[in-house]
Amino acid sequence: MARNNAARRRTRLISGTIRKPAGAGQAAADGPFGAAETAITCPRGLEDALASELAALGVPVLSVGDTVVTTLATLHECARWNLRLRVAHRVLWLWGEFWASSPEDLYRGVQALRWEDLLRPDRPLMVRAAVGSGRNGPPAGWVALKCKDAIADRMRSRLGRRPDSGPQPDGACVFVRWADRLCRIYLDTTGEPLCFRGYRRDLVVAPLRETLAAGLLIASGWDGRAPLVNPMCGSGTLAIEAAWIAARRAPGLLRRKFAFRHLRTHDEERWRAELDAARRAVQPVRAVIVAADRDPAAVEAARRNARRADVAEDLRIVVADLDRTPLPGPAPWIVVNPEYGRRTGADEAALLAEYRRIGEFFRRAGPSGRGVVITGHLRLARRIGLRLDRRRTVYNGPIECRLLEFALGGPPSSPATERPI
Ligand SMILES: C[S@@+](CC[C@H](N)C(=O)[O-])C[C@H]1O[C@@H](n2cnc3c(N)ncnc32)[C@H](O)[C@@H]1O
Repeated sequence: MARNNAARRRTRLISGTIRKPAGAGQAAADGPFGAAETAITCPRGLEDALASELAALGVPVLSVGDTVVTTLATLHECARWNLRLRVAHRVLWLWGEFWASSPEDLYRGVQALRWEDLLRPDRPLMVRAAVGSGRNGPPAGWVALKCKDAIADRMRSRLGRRPDSGPQPDGACVFVRWADRLCRIYLDTTGEPLCFRGYRRDLVVAPLRETLAAGLLIASGWDGRAPLVNPMCGSGTLAIEAAWIAARRAPGLLRRKFAFRHLRTHDEERWRAELDAARRAVQPVRAVIVAADRDPAAVEAARRNARRADVAEDLRIVVADLDRTPLPGPAPWIVVNPEYGRRTGADEAALLAEYRRIGEFFRRAGPSGRGVVITGHLRLARRIGLRLDRRRTVYNGPIECRLLEFALGGPPSSPATERPI
């Protein structure tokens, strides 16, 4: 089969097999639906962090691609990964795939699937689609509508009723990817992306997505025990995610809305047992975690968010300028997400001084600490002036950023230049 070679080149296969059709595998434990290839999406640049999370949960990773890691999972396991994965955005369970050269092929292929076994006519349905770039076919919105019609027609013919459909993820969700004639139909078991944890209702300018914040901490190797300092904390996302990591708290515990809960296969009792197990796994936070911001309104927002996240007692959140941020212990892990102008409109000269001060603050933390910076300002990052230990490109939504790690004991870097880092 002429598969999408470009996509294949971008994908690193971890094991030889990439697909086992739905219906095979653990059918006894999961009704008629067994394990199927499952694509778990994440922020671009944090695929390895997601793969390491899966590995830590004992889940085999099949492949790592651009913004996606694949594994095999039953629908029940998908529910568990929705609850537990910190870096994941969506968990997509492959329900069918076929070749389609025309809209008619697409309609027929979607209609041939046994939707009446999975969807409930009394629950709303949202269909999203993505189409391959560089093709002349219909746009994604049109593809989604065509698939929704095919599903609705199938449901009406089998059950006499069809689900209402709409643009909001309020019920079951289907995701269709149509690229190079290959059409893959997924059940999106998540719906509203997992970055919406439920605690961050108080916002400041330019907040980090929760999944990105968690991924940065995981990617930087913070172990949940070393003292962690988060100057310029804004709404507190990094500190709150750090507390959840330290507490081994499942990131989905505050959420009620998951698309899998609207499927026919959903077993509410089993789901409640998952939630109970996740609650029992929560441990006291032993790491000292400090968050600070010079803006009292940001500190107030961070405190309110921390209360909602149930970690207010585990964090020390203070009003403090960068220079005066408390440094607990001799080897702190300092994580900073400074302003970078793009979304805050901050003045370039002021930012330049600020990035130099970050370097000075890092130096004051002593030689055994670690400095981690996430920024979208690739030129200013050089002004930190310390020897760079590790660098990776990550994306905060559409914004290209760098995750920079500095070993604080190292010699200063060569004089700052205006070259992007
Ligand atoms: C990009 S925002 C951080 C957003 C945060 N990561 C979040 O998810 O909400 C940068 C924050 O740095 C703070 N800030 C800027 N300069 C500062 C300084 N010199 N000392 C302390 N805080 C500062 C701002 O008040 C702002 O809240």
